[in-house]
Amino acid sequence: MRIIVVDNYEEMSKKAAIMMASQVVLKPNSVLGLATGSTPVGMYKELVNMYKVGEVDFSDVKTFNLDEYYGLDKNNQQSYHNYMMENLFDHINVKEENINIPNGMAENVEKECLDYDRRIEEVGGIDIQVLGIGANGHIGFNEPNVSFEAGTHLVKLDEKTIKDNSRFFDSIGEVPTTAVSMGIKTIMMSKKIILLANGKGKAEAIKKTIEGKITPEVPASILQLHKDVTFIIDKEAANELS
Ligand code: F6R
Repeated sequence: MRIIVVDNYEEMSKKAAIMMASQVVLKPNSVLGLATGSTPVGMYKELVNMYKVGEVDFSDVKTFNLDEYYGLDKNNQQSYHNYMMENLFDHINVKEENINIPNGMAENVEKECLDYDRRIEEVGGIDIQVLGIGANGHIGFNEPNVSFEAGTHLVKLDEKTIKDNSRFFDSIGEVPTTAVSMGIKTIMMSKKIILLANGKGKAEAIKKTIEGKITPEVPASILQLHKDVTFIIDKEAANELS
């Protein structure tokens, strides 16, 4: 496990973008695992800038997103599909057919989930997975007490997550209560993982993740067992580490 503590959000975003871009430079047909939320927005901006000045080419890259709200159409303003188009895909040369995001409108969710994991396997697995972390220690939408054995599945969102994510919606009642998320098993199969966290709201989750016992109560704590995980966190998020 590597822990890189940086001064602020900009530095976190730059370091993460450099790691992602290096992966693509070294292996142009890399499979990238991507996250949404407020944490990676700065990293995506940096990657778009690097693409615009010709430092990185995404034409052979394949992408798999961690999760999508269940019941939101991909064109819904709050869907993670829409987030990815606005923050990254509309501004780089990734091919549309190489973009994978769980279908939040799938009628047969179980099939959608199995297909998603199969598609990841078919392309040889995820080379590098970006993660954010919930204040309750979730990764993807794997909420506390999730099974570490699960692949992609339909999850019920925690009250805390619904409350935290309500900032993106007009009212809390509009936040979907379920989502399709890669499971812990899917995430742990990634060859490399980088987890980004900033701000004091993440400090407790970061402490439990890195220094606490490995337990489904803190889903991210399983990362202690991954062989190539890098935490890029700002001073505030690192504040409770001993
Ligand atoms: C997003 C995701 C979530 C977020 C987490 C942190 O695809 O899977 O685990 O990474 O909820 O969200 P932010 O970055 O908004 O604090």
